[in-house]
Formats: sequence, C-alpha cells, structure tokens
Amino acid sequence: MPDSDIEKAEARIEELRARVNRNNYLYYALDNPEVSDAEYDTQMRELKALEEQFPQLVTTDSPTQRVGTAPLAAFGVVTHPKPMLSLGNVFSDEELEAWYTRVCKLLDGKKFDLVCEHKMDGLAIALTYENGKFIVGATRGDGYNGENITQNLRTIRSIPLSVSGDIPSRFEVRGEVYLPLAGFHKLNRERAEQGLPLFANPRNAAAGSVRQLDPRITAGRALDIYVYALGYAEGKQMPSTHWETMQYLKSLGFRINPKNERVATLAEAAEYFRHWTEERHSLPYEIDGVVVKIDQVPMQEQLGDVGREPRWAIAYKFPAVQGRTVLKEIAVSVGRTGTLNPFAIMEPVAIGGVTISRAALHNEDDIRRKDIREGDTVFLQRAGDVIPEIVGPTPESAARPGRAAPFSMKAKLFDKAKGIPVCPVCGTEVVKPAEEVMYYCPNSACPAQVEERLQHFVSRGAMDVRGVGEQMAVMLLREGLAKDAADLYSLKDKRDRFLAVERLGEKSVDNILASIEKSKSRPLSRLINALGIRHVGDETADLLVRHFDSLDALENEPEDELTNIPSIGPKIAGSITAFFRNPENLHIIEKLKAAGVNMCSEAAALTEVPALAGQEFVITGKLEKFSRETAEELIRSLGGTAKSDVTKKTNYLVVGLEPGSKLEKARKLGIKQISETELLAILGQS
Ligand code: IVH
Repeated sequence: MPDSDIEKAEARIEELRARVNRNNYLYYALDNPEVSDAEYDTQMRELKALEEQFPQLVTTDSPTQRVGTAPLAAFGVVTHPKPMLSLGNVFSDEELEAWYTRVCKLLDGKKFDLVCEHKMDGLAIALTYENGKFIVGATRGDGYNGENITQNLRTIRSIPLSVSGDIPSRFEVRGEVYLPLAGFHKLNRERAEQGLPLFANPRNAAAGSVRQLDPRITAGRALDIYVYALGYAEGKQMPSTHWETMQYLKSLGFRINPKNERVATLAEAAEYFRHWTEERHSLPYEIDGVVVKIDQVPMQEQLGDVGREPRWAIAYKFPAVQGRTVLKEIAVSVGRTGTLNPFAIMEPVAIGGVTISRAALHNEDDIRRKDIREGDTVFLQRAGDVIPEIVGPTPESAARPGRAAPFSMKAKLFDKAKGIPVCPVCGTEVVKPAEEVMYYCPNSACPAQVEERLQHFVSRGAMDVRGVGEQMAVMLLREGLAKDAADLYSLKDKRDRFLAVERLGEKSVDNILASIEKSKSRPLSRLINALGIRHVGDETADLLVRHFDSLDALENEPEDELTNIPSIGPKIAGSITAFFRNPENLHIIEKLKAAGVNMCSEAAALTEVPALAGQEFVITGKLEKFSRETAEELIRSLGGTAKSDVTKKTNYLVVGLEPGSKLEKARKLGIKQISETELLAILGQS
C-alpha cells in the first residue's frame, strides 16, 4: 500500500476522531449536541471502517474502542495515591446545623460557600489521566486499594478516553458510576425473562455491571457517570474552589451534574435537601440524599479529615428505604373473606426509620415467581408508600446449597392427622377455586374471619367508627359483647358491661358509643365495602352505588344482570350473589337495618350530571392537606372515580409526597399529573 494512502487515512482518522470526540463532549458533558444521532453514527461508521482497513492506526483512546475487550481472569489491584474517603452522614436539619457549627468554629468564623450536590446512588470510581489519556480506572475498594476496572469503564461513553488543552500532566477525577432507572428496569425485565435473579436496586445493578470480568457485558448496560471531585492534579495549578474545579472538569469533557448548586447559607443547603426530598422521584436516576461541601479548597485542606471522613463535606441522607434481612418463616394468616394470606416473618430490620419484621407475600404464585424461600437472606424495600415488600433473595442465598424447598401452600397447611391441608386457625379443609391464585378457608364462622370482618367494618375506608380500633374489635368479640358487626349498634344497651371490661372512663365509653351512632349515616358505598363481600372493595362499592340506590336493590339483582355493569365480571357478580344467599349475612343485614343504619344512596336523588363524571383519578404518595380516603371520597362525591392503579383509562395522577411506582407508570402512559394543590382546586377546596 502506498505511504500516501496511509497518510491520507491517518489524516482522515484524526479528523473523524476529533469530530466524534467533540460531539461526545457536546452530548455528554454539555447535554447540548450539535449534530443528529444519524450524523454521529455516520462519522463513527466511517472511522470504524478506516480503522478496520488500517489496523496499525488504531489507538486505545480512539472513540471506537469502547466495545469491550475479552474477559479478564481477575481484576488487578490499584493503590489509590490519595485515599478515597467516605462521607459522614446526617439525617436531620439539626444534625446538619451541628456539622456546620463545628466547621465554622474550626475555620475561626471565616466566610465560605457551600456546594450542594445529589448524592448519586451508584459506585465510586477514580479515573486517572496521563498526558491527556485515560490510563486507569478503579473502584473505591477499601479506600486504599481498589480493583482495576479500566476496560469496563472505557465502555461508558460519557467517560472521555482523552482530554486536551491546558491540562495537568497527570490527574485523577472521581465520580459515581450509576445505572439510570430506565436501564435498571430494562435490565431486570431481561433477567426476569431469562429466569435470572433480579437486582434489588440500581446501585447493585451498577456495581454488578462494572465489576464484570467480561467488559462486553458492561458495554451492554446503559451505565453513566457524574464526576464530583478532583482526586489530585500534577503539573498545573487548579482552581481554588470546588465549584470552579467542576466547571474546569466540565470544560475538559467530564459529565458534571447540572443539578449542583453553589449557595452562601446553611438555610439554602437545607432548602436544597428539602426540594430534592420531594422531587427525587422525578429524576431519571436514584439518589440517597444530598452532599454538602465547603467550596473553598484551602479551607477544605485546613479542615482535613477525621478517621476516613473529610470534615469539609457531609452527606444529608434520606431515610433508607431498602435493606436486607433473614426470612425466618413464611406463615399464613386468615383474611376477612377467608383468604389464606402468606406473610413473611423476618429478623427485625430498620428501613427508613421503621423496624420491619413482617411483610405481606400476596400468594403462592408470587412467592414462587420471586423464588423466596424460608431461611433466605432477602432484599426488602419500602416503596413511596409504607408497605414493605420483599424483592427477592440475595444472589448468594439463591445459590446456597441445602436451601429450603420452594414454598407450597398445601405443604405448609398440611395436617398430618387428617391427611389434608387445613385452615391454620379453625382446622377446616382449605379450598382453591380453579381460576384463582388464592386458597381459602370456607368456614365463615372461623374465628379469624370473624375478627378480621369486624376490624374491616370499623376501619377508616369502611364505616369509620372512630374509637373502635383493631384491638377493641377483638376484645368485643372475645368478651362476647359482639358476635358480628351489627352488634356494635346494640352496644349502648350493654354500656355497663362495656365499661367494666374495657376499663375505660365513662366519658371515653360515651364517646365511642356516640361515634358508633354516627357511623349509621355513612353513605351506602361505605356500607357495601364494610360488609366484606369477597372481591368487593371500595372501588367496586363505588361503582355499585352508581347502579343501585339501595342495598335491597343490589341484593335482588340477578347474577347475570350484574355482569352487564361495566367492570363487573362473573367473579365479582358470583361473589355478590353468593354473599346475599348466605343466611348469616342476611341476618346481619336485617340487624343493621333494624338499628337504623343507612341503606340508601344519596346519589339516587342526584339528577344533574356530577362535575367529575367520567373522570378517573389515582393518588400516589402522601397528601398534606387531607387523608387519601377523604380525597377519594370527595372525588367520588363529585361523580369521579378514584382508583388505586394507573391504567390507560386514568385521567389524572395526583402526585403527593414520596410518590410510588405509579408515577413512573403514569409517565410511560402519558397520563396527566397534578399536584395536591391542583386537586384541591378541582375539588373546589382551595
Ligand atoms: S464526595 C471525600 N459527592 O458517596 C468526599 N460523594 O458516602 C468524597 N457519592 O464514596 C465523596 N454522590 O461514592 C461525593 N456528589 C457526591 C456524591 C458522592 C455520591 C458517594 C461516593 C462516596 C460516598 C460516600
């Protein structure tokens, strides 16, 4: 091949690399691309083709060299020239202030600024550059020695393989490699399809991806990086503030989080934390808090470190929402409709400031799908809402020899003497309708069912009998003061006995009796929900009152007519008619009627079209101004529907504090999101 050809190719390759690098910089560091993706791809393709034709011209810092090389046998060790420290934590404004006061004292009252940053929930890494080339990338390891993961980090497109301009001869930048949520969910979906254990959170997934011996696997994961510190720099004076150092690194092509802010006061830093506590679920990645740093580098140096934590920076963390613990037993409880509900009994573990030792496990299929077994160490999470959930076993647990057998409801409830699976409370043989996932105790007199039914009847979403909580409901049954819910309304005739057993003052007892009286006038939909008909919760109850103006009308509706109502399928219809065929239930309804409990719908009197007719609302997260139940009731009172799950039919998602996964779903489906304030306005409450 003539030399001139090679020279021509070399010149073109250089030109293409410069272009691709510039476009990478505009895209990753500045978030402001100048060329289309298609144009970028064309440049890359031409560069790849030329490098294939002239392999002698390939260099390790070429932007084509990110695909991942062959697997390694093991990672090498990298000793960090400057230890990679960790951060002290605070969990409240008071603790943050205590840190700040200490710092001010140590700095003799000198003035300084603060930089507030997201605390990325990923993996700390250090990138070393020599003469502008990326030469080593390492994990934090124990802070002194990390693993050499250079080949893997090279596959992350937002890490520059080379930098140019007025740069230090050798320097190290530090940052967090993380997996954006979209990539995390995609990865777990793929793993579920392949029957592989799922990653409990994006951080584990990022760590697992970066610490792959086969860089081609890393290359296939959508990892990203934010750089948050300069480790060290040789041969060039660096800016004297953290903020300017970050701007300088950004100008070299490193990706810096645009959400970082420089502020002058502690109050502003606390506000930054508060803001992101509320908004963090709108981010495309997970953060576990914010980091507050002293901006002035000489002051950072003056402050130094304590132990392995710098005094000049602090992590203000959100309460943890994830954890792991040992699953001691999968036990079974009996629900109000006889459902046999498996639940987990665990070694107590603190998550988000709450100690958790139990979690619902839904049903046998779900337990088997997640492959959760007794004795496993499991990942736990508390979602935006409060109910803890077991995500699955840790990979070590899932691989453990001698692990317990997969969970089986029949085996769990098996009674050796009788040779059949039985209800753990009353011993009746269990049943499992063919088309259902749940097992049931068919004995409606089962003491557990009776208790659960009464507890449900008085609960907030049902008849809302204030003053009668779960424990009192159980006491009333055990003391023989009530046999069923309707007996609540004759409690006033047994006031003396009630006084004696409850050891309550006269005033409290009278208050309770008054709130029982008050509950007689609850809307029909509440009563229908309170009756505890299998498969009929508050949503279905709401739907039913739109078609029936009294309990009698519902009771007399033939099963096949019920199924004509949209959203009422054969399962619900069958359950409603079965409920009204049961003499015990009819007896309770008669007693409720005799006591004067409202059996009619107010909506029956409504003639005009209600304001929110046809509008479907879903609420996620905590509301500040009113409870979720009240909000839902208001929505319904205006003719709207309030559902618990986001579907294509949802019109509005009301986003409260710490919203859950519904927010992401609503985003995917393009459903309108409104704030609590906007909801108040719609409801005419503002
Ligand atoms: S600065 C000496 N800034 O938090 C201070 N760390 O708990 C070095 N982290 O190992 C850390 N986001 O992995 C800093 N904006 C940020 C961060 C951050 C996440 C991680 C980092 C570190 C850990 C300390």
